[in-house]
Amino acid sequence: MDDKKYWTEYYAKNSKPTDASSFAEFILPKLTEDKNLIELGCGNGRDSIYFAQNNINVTAVDQVQEEVDYLNENHKEDNIHFIAGDFTDLKNTTSEEIKNTDFDYVYSRFTFHSINEAKEDRTLDWIEEHLKTDGCFLLEARSLNDPMFKQGEALSETENFTTHYRRYMDLDKITQKLESRNFEIIYKIEDNDLAVYKDDNPYVIRIIARKL
Ligand SMILES: C[S@@+](CC[C@H](N)C(=O)[O-])C[C@H]1O[C@@H](n2cnc3c(N)ncnc32)[C@H](O)[C@@H]1O
Repeated sequence: MDDKKYWTEYYAKNSKPTDASSFAEFILPKLTEDKNLIELGCGNGRDSIYFAQNNINVTAVDQVQEEVDYLNENHKEDNIHFIAGDFTDLKNTTSEEIKNTDFDYVYSRFTFHSINEAKEDRTLDWIEEHLKTDGCFLLEARSLNDPMFKQGEALSETENFTTHYRRYMDLDKITQKLESRNFEIIYKIEDNDLAVYKDDNPYVIRIIARKL
């Protein structure tokens, strides 16, 4: 099953937004009201809705059209819009909102580990181009030390397949990539106990990178 089909089927059964993630709760106090945030891979929209309810202007992108339609139908507030699309190809987006906005924040939770490295690189290019100076890239993703990496079918030294594809992240490598792209790392951590969900306690990386 390809990943888009996996997530389409997943959100068909889990369409309603759940509580905000612990990463979103960690990030919110660092945000300034009325600024613009784009979420890359919003899933059921829980973190985007949480930010919008706290007076951030949110554009939320996900590849699952049906879930985006459902979220737009149920969230008609002025400060949040859900857009269907591939967040790794925003350079070619047809969305006028995305084309015409420079963002204060780019937020990605548990989505960078779902794309291959070529897509990561072009997403980083887009982020560098579309974040305002002093804007921040806010990232949480599974790390190479995550026990999940030992499960399923190994595809490479960083990739595996369980119920779907994942590429586990090397904190030093993504840090270097951001620094080489004109970002200052203002916060970074790699640990478990940060993103516990049921019996899954992943090792994750968190990064806050400021665009210089
Ligand atoms: C693990 S879920 C995380 C959802 C949400 N960020 C959260 O933390 O609840 C990964 C999400 O990324 C989306 N996604 C993965 N690759 C994508 C891509 N290239 N373009 C748009 N969405 C993508 C999936 O459809 C799915 O909703």
